[in-house]
Amino acid sequence: MEMSRPKVLSTHALFPAARAILDAQCEVEYWTAPERIPRAELLQRVASKDALVCLLTEKIDDELLAAGPGLRIVANVAVGYDNINVPACTVRLVVATNTPGGLDETTADFAWTLLMAIARRLLEGDQLARSGQWAGWGLDQLCGADVWGKTLGLVGLGRIGRAVARRAMGFRMRVIYNDAIRAPEEAERDLHVEFVDRDTLFAQSDFISLHVPLLPDTRHLISAERLAKMKPTACLINTSRGPVVDEAALAEALQKGRIAGAALDVYEQEPKIHPGLPGLKNVILAPHIASASLETRTKMACMAAENVVAKLSGRRPANALNPEVLA
Ligand code: DGY
Repeated sequence: MEMSRPKVLSTHALFPAARAILDAQCEVEYWTAPERIPRAELLQRVASKDALVCLLTEKIDDELLAAGPGLRIVANVAVGYDNINVPACTVRLVVATNTPGGLDETTADFAWTLLMAIARRLLEGDQLARSGQWAGWGLDQLCGADVWGKTLGLVGLGRIGRAVARRAMGFRMRVIYNDAIRAPEEAERDLHVEFVDRDTLFAQSDFISLHVPLLPDTRHLISAERLAKMKPTACLINTSRGPVVDEAALAEALQKGRIAGAALDVYEQEPKIHPGLPGLKNVILAPHIASASLETRTKMACMAAENVVAKLSGRRPANALNPEVLA
C-alpha cells in the first residue's frame, strides 16, 4: 500500500521546476486562480496541510498558524520576510524559511536600472518619443544628470547593497555607505566603499539607494527630516521595502523640488501608491519587480520548494529563519 504523502498548500502555481521538486515528494494543492488567494480561503485550505509555500503578499500570523495546526514549515518565496511573524512560528515549532542570496544580483541590476533611468530621464524621453510631439534633437532637451563620477550613498551594505557597490565601480563613482554593522576592512577595500554616518551620507550623496530590511528601526528611515538633508540635486532609489520611506513626505519633497527625483519599486501599502506620486515627472514607479527575471524568480520558487521537501523528509532546510525550532 502506498504511504500517504505529506500535504502542501502553495498559494501560487509557481514555476515548473519548483513544482517538479514538490510534486516528486508531496501531495500539493496549488492556488492557480489569477487573483490572490483570499484570506478566508487560505485559512480554510491550510487546515489539513503539513507545509505552506507562500508569497510576501500573505500574512503569516498567529491566526493562520492556528488555522493550520499541522503545519511544520512555512516557506516564503522571497528574501524579505516582514510578512511572517517568526516568533509566532517558533512558539508553534513551525520552521519559517526565506530565499536569501538567490536574488541579489538581479535586484542590484534593477536598482541600477532605476538609478540610470531617473538620472537620465528615460521615461520622460520615452513619453516624448511616443507622443508624436517630438520636434527632433534639441541641445537642451531632457538634460539629466551624469551618473559616472558621482557619489552613491548605500543605506545597507548587505548582499544586495554590495552587489550595487560592485556595479558602481564601473562608473567610477565614490561609494559611501551606512549600516548598523560596519563591514570588515577587507570588504570595504574590495568594494571601494567608505563607511560614513547617516547625516554625512544624506548630505553628500548624489544618489541614495536603500538596501535594508523592514524592521522597527528602519520604518520611515527616510523621513521629512532626512529628505531635507539631501542635496536638492539628489535622487532616491528604493528596491527594499516600501515602509522604509515615508511616502507622504517623499511626495511633498518631490513636489516642492527639495530633491531632484525618486525611483521606487516598493510602496508603503502595496498595491496602493501615494496619490501625490503618480502625477510627478521626476518619479519612476515600478510594480515591485526588482527580482523579477524568469531565472531568479524560478530559483526563488525552487529554493522554497527545496526547503519544504527538506523539512518534510527529516532534513534541515537550508534557509531556516528560526533554526532553534530544528534543534
Ligand atoms: C523579496 O524577495 O523580498 C523581494 O521583495 C521580492 O522578490
